[in-house]
Amino acid sequence: MSNDKIVLVAGATGGVGQLVVANLLEKGLRVRALTRSAAKAQNMFNDKVEIVVGDIRDAATLPKATQDITHIICASGTTAFPSERWEFEQNPNLFEWVPIFLDPKSSIAKAKNSPEKADAQGVINLIAAAPQNLQRFVFISSAGVLRKDAFPYNILNAFGGLNAKQKGEEALVTSGLPYTIIRPGQLIDGPYTSYDLNTLIKAKTDAKLDVVLGTGDKLSGQTSRIDIAAACVESIFYSNTSGLAFEIINKGTRPPVIDWEKLFKSVDG
Ligand SMILES: NC(=O)c1ccc[n+]([C@@H]2O[C@H](COP(=O)([O-])OP(=O)(O)OC[C@H]3O[C@@H](n4cnc5c(N)ncnc54)[C@H](OP(=O)(O)O)[C@@H]3O)[C@@H](O)[C@H]2O)c1
Repeated sequence: MSNDKIVLVAGATGGVGQLVVANLLEKGLRVRALTRSAAKAQNMFNDKVEIVVGDIRDAATLPKATQDITHIICASGTTAFPSERWEFEQNPNLFEWVPIFLDPKSSIAKAKNSPEKADAQGVINLIAAAPQNLQRFVFISSAGVLRKDAFPYNILNAFGGLNAKQKGEEALVTSGLPYTIIRPGQLIDGPYTSYDLNTLIKAKTDAKLDVVLGTGDKLSGQTSRIDIAAACVESIFYSNTSGLAFEIINKGTRPPVIDWEKLFKSVDG
């Protein structure tokens, strides 16, 4: 893959997103970071990436982000449970959080960046804005999308987080774009919100566990942000990850080097 490739990273300033950016830069690829805050991204990436301000909820902001890009890695997302990142009309005070948690329907309706708005509609908007000749759309979904009624995913989906991820997945599969869907377990390691890029490139997993991939939605456990970021970037170098949805968790003794080619072969069906 040469330098004429441009990878748009949605959620570039997030925990996984920063690591994705670092991995892409290490491989010599051109990176365009999509963010709602130019200042935040500028602070993190120091002119090493092109920054484009956009909000995936607002389709009109996306064409300038997706112009001439060859790949998209979508690492954006809001929280599964109500938090400030849901952007309520008014920031709730301490006591107002209780009814918000007790009444999922009305809290979802009052939030401007709920999973339905950011993880479903936002991802659908990003898919629609992708160039027709895109070489790959890598989407970070979640473990549990296909077993939302089973514990603990029924709890995780209480506010529609998994429903939203599934809508994003379905829109991508039916879009006709070459895609890779990655379903992690609960994320660990990071987020590395104030690290410089050199530190990110050398980031080591605290978990010290091996990477396990699976097909479908059967694995449960934790996933290192370092490993899912690597999976996102590595997957664009392998044609057998196109049209593939796989799950990723950390388990077992970690070898000195993670063999992504072998891992992808184990799930390419
Ligand atoms: N946490 C978990 O256990 C878990 C489990 C399964 C899957 N996941 C998924 O894994 C991915 C990475 O998670 P993470 O914890 O590393 O993420 P994170 O640190 O929470 O970062 C998410 C990023 O999304 C961006 N974002 C949010 N709303 C947006 C919007 N409306 N428009 C554009 N960008 C928006 C934000 O960037 P700006 O503020 O710069 O715009 C933010 O940096 C997410 O897709 C998440 O849903 C997480």
